[in-house]
This record gives sequence, C-alpha cells and structure tokens, in this order.
Amino acid sequence: MKTHVFFVDKNVDDLNSCPQITQAASYLQRGDLVAFPTETVYGLGANAMSTAAVENIFIAKGRPSDNPLIVHIATTEQLYDIVCDIPPVAYTLMEHFWPGPLTLVLPKKEAVSPRVTAGLNTVAVRMPNHPIALALIKASGLPIAAPSANRSGRPSPTTAKHVLDDLDGRIAAVVDGGQTGVGVESTVIDCTTAIPTILRPGGVTKEDIERVIGVVNIDRALVEKEAVPKSPGMKYTHYAPKAPLVVVHGSSVFLQQLVNEKRADGFKVGVLTTEEGRHTYEADVVISCGQRHDLRTVAKKLYDALRTFDTTNVDIIYSESFPYEGIGVAIMNRLLKAAGHEQMMEK
Ligand code: TXA
Ligand code: MG
Repeated sequence: MKTHVFFVDKNVDDLNSCPQITQAASYLQRGDLVAFPTETVYGLGANAMSTAAVENIFIAKGRPSDNPLIVHIATTEQLYDIVCDIPPVAYTLMEHFWPGPLTLVLPKKEAVSPRVTAGLNTVAVRMPNHPIALALIKASGLPIAAPSANRSGRPSPTTAKHVLDDLDGRIAAVVDGGQTGVGVESTVIDCTTAIPTILRPGGVTKEDIERVIGVVNIDRALVEKEAVPKSPGMKYTHYAPKAPLVVVHGSSVFLQQLVNEKRADGFKVGVLTTEEGRHTYEADVVISCGQRHDLRTVAKKLYDALRTFDTTNVDIIYSESFPYEGIGVAIMNRLLKAAGHEQMMEK
C-alpha cells in the first residue's frame, strides 16, 4: 500500500471546504486508516463504529489487543452516540478543557465496538484542539478512534515525518499539518470513580484540573511501581529509543562522571539535556530538548529528541531529570517509561 501524504496548512481560513480534508475524510468513511495532527501528537484514525476499521489500527501499529483506544469527536452531539450516564463533573471538565488535551473515561454505549474499548464497559473520549483534526472529524461525520500514530513501543510522533518513519506503506494516508503543539499526549481522567482519577498525566496538569473541580485522585500505578494500572496502555514500555536510556537525578557534575566512566570503557555515550545545559557536557552526542525554565518547550521537543538519538551511533543515553510539577509530571512519566525505569541517583 502506498501511503498518500496530504499537505494542509492549518491556518487557512476555511478548512471545511479544503479538498485534501474532504478526500482524507472519504478514506476514513471507507474504513481506511488516516494519520492526522492533533494539538498533542499525531493520531492514527479509523471509524470508531467499525470493528473492521479499528482492527486495522492494531495491525498497523503492532499494538497489543488489550490496550483500548481514545475516540475523538468534533462536536458535543457526537458524544451522545458513544457514552451514557455522564456525571456532572464530566460536563464541568468538558466545558473548561474541550477542545483540548484532556481525555475523559466514561460509561460506553453498546454501539461502540468492543475492539475500541478492549472489552471494557467504559470508553475514553476527547475533543482535540487542532483545526485540522476538528475539520477532518467533521467532514467524515464519524467518531474517530485514534491512538498515537507510532509503531507500538516507539516515541509518539510530533511530525508527519515521524509518522512515515514508523508507518509508511502500512496506512492509507497522513495529513501533514506541521509540528504538533503540546508534544506529549492528553491527560486521561477516569470520571466513573466517585472522585475522578488521573490514569495518565499529560497536556492538562493536575493543578489545572483541581482548580476547576477540586481534589482528584491519581492512579496508584503512577506512584507505586508494583500496582497494576487502570489504564491498560500504562503498563507497557513505551517511547523507547533504540539505545538504553538512564534518567539521572543529581547535578551535571554527577551526570558527566557517569558519561566519563562509560566512555573510558569504550562506549559511545549520548546526553539528553536542555538549552541551558547544551554546553555543559562532553559526550559523543549531546541533544538539547527545549528550555528547562519553560517545561512546556521540553514537552514539545521530547519525542523528537528521543527519535533523533536513533539516527546516531550511541550505545547508551543519560538524561537529565525534570521537576515533578505542572507538565513536568507528564515529561518524567514518559522519560521513565522510555528508560524502562532505569535511574541513577546522586548520593
Ligand atoms: O493525546 C492523545 O491522547 C493522543 C492523540 C492522538 O489524541 N492519543 C493517544 O492514544 O495517546 P494512545 O492510544 O496512544 O493512548 C491511549 C491511552 C492508553 O494508555 C489507553 O490504555 C488509555 O488511553 N485508555 C483508552 N481507553 C481507556 C479506558 N476505557 N479506560 C482506561 N484507559 C483507557
Ligand atoms: Mg501511544
């Protein structure tokens, strides 16, 4: 299969009458897979009401079948086709954060394919804040199931090139709308528990949510290593570059020592840092990802940085760590998963 690339400028006035969007939407209607930009990462879309179409997502990604998908909608009317028994707190969250990087887990309607929800009686749903995503969903007239558009286990794609690197020839089309904004995936919050529970940290922070609805819980699996996550996807190693990655807690002097020891043993060593630390380290490859004083810029560049290491010949990567506050919680969650929880602490 040849993957068709549709170039679309997200800033054009009337995306709804854009012929590339109309054509990409017709691919979705006939059951094909179309990758498209959202404000977080690129998604790999399929008709959420068609089991056969959704099945293709799992095949193209090599995704474990027990990992459910997020359904993307463009209007609140679409919500009522897929969920029921919406609790008041969910309406409050939608009002404040949609369209945007917040995914709500709600009781599902019968019509949603069990292939989408991996047999759960809940479904994850979000309204993305990206003009191309919204126009494409509207043009298709369908709720669109879409995981991140990477091969399973790889860092999520923040450009159409990342999508093609992983899925060229495996999907019908990608809509290239340039680099995505937030850079890490949406926050997933379970609204079926008495107190809503964050299952995956992401683009909307816990602080943002608590300002609107008061105290929320965090899934135990996000804090305790042994607990089984309620969000099936959270149990898999993810986002991993090809070389082993180690997250370093401590000073730049300590990190440099680790680099020196490995290089003395003949290994090629990479360092993941920020603009502030770019000239601090001596290593075989130093990649800077955003600015530490503004963690949003780190989130935006993180996956591209992890993928860039794959184009180098490093044997091991040491990464700086980031404060567990605001979007830093999502950054550390993804970094530690990419590292398979390999960490070094300065004494
Ligand atoms: O930002 C995003 O959320 C991106 C863009 C494309 O929208 N999508 C994304 O999808 O990250 P994916 O499939 O890579 O991650 C979906 C996460 C997984 O951790 C999955 O286990 C969880 O959402 N999830 C989906 N349905 C669920 C459900 N019913 N209950 C609990 N967790 C669910
Ligand atoms: Mg993913």
